[in-house]
Amino acid sequence: MFSSLKKKWKVNEWQLTLIICTFAFGGSLTGYVGKKIMNLLSLQADWLWTLIYIFLITLIWPMAVILLSIPLGQFKFFKKYISKILSRIGLGTPSNPKLDKKHIAIFASGVGSNAQKIIDHFRNHSSIRIVLIVSNKPGAGVLDMAVKEGIPTLIIEKQRFFEGDAYLPEMEDLSVDLIVLAGFLWHVPAALVQKYRGHIINIHPALLPDFGGKGMYGHHVHEAVLAAGKKESGISIHLVDEVYDNGLVLFQATCPVHDNDTIESLTSRIHELEHTHFAKIIEKQLMNDQ
Ligand code: GRF
Repeated sequence: MFSSLKKKWKVNEWQLTLIICTFAFGGSLTGYVGKKIMNLLSLQADWLWTLIYIFLITLIWPMAVILLSIPLGQFKFFKKYISKILSRIGLGTPSNPKLDKKHIAIFASGVGSNAQKIIDHFRNHSSIRIVLIVSNKPGAGVLDMAVKEGIPTLIIEKQRFFEGDAYLPEMEDLSVDLIVLAGFLWHVPAALVQKYRGHIINIHPALLPDFGGKGMYGHHVHEAVLAAGKKESGISIHLVDEVYDNGLVLFQATCPVHDNDTIESLTSRIHELEHTHFAKIIEKQLMNDQ
């Protein structure tokens, strides 16, 4: 329930309940205080009374909500919420663009050449930031890259990923908007897909729906393309659902397969395509999501 609101505000169910309570109690408190003040001023209930009352309510409401958000543990949320409203109506300072940036978590298991390109692309981006690099392999090259770039890393452990909470709390803490799989070899668990449906993006080194599915990764894909005598291969950038390489394809680009191609030569041609397009499609996807 209220899933679009949860996504928009980047909160979980419990937090959303507390936020709604804060709004409700804040409204009642505002009405109560407003009436008390009106009584003190002993004004009659005419049009002037109504105008003053509306004015008072407008002033008291943010204060009441902010005040109540403290015991309800939602102060941070409401501070941001109210300053956003104020800046929208031209009052107060504009919200900190750094806080408003869209957040990406990159999941990768290997070298991370795609991860590097994505990091390069978004390094000084005005509205998108890479907040986490996740790997299932403690020695993965992508982790060294993250350290060099000063991006927090997370090494995930099989049992918690597949049978536990799928590291959702970590994603929520960092307000992750989009999960990017850049050579991530584990199947994404249903819990993560459900929470981030439409917000997990993968790159596959072939033209889906061909040469996809379980076991079709890395050199296996190119080997299969060569064995099938294909004259063309390419890349597919797609959304992730519960089934391997099955989600909506957002983008494809093609390249020729030559008669004398080896797995290595095809791999490097495909990598070139990936490096050219992946970050741009990620950016487009996030910007469409505003
Ligand atoms: C890429 O070819 C991508 O299509 C696949 O895994 C590979 C990762 O390569 N999903 P790298 O680690 O980014 O160099």
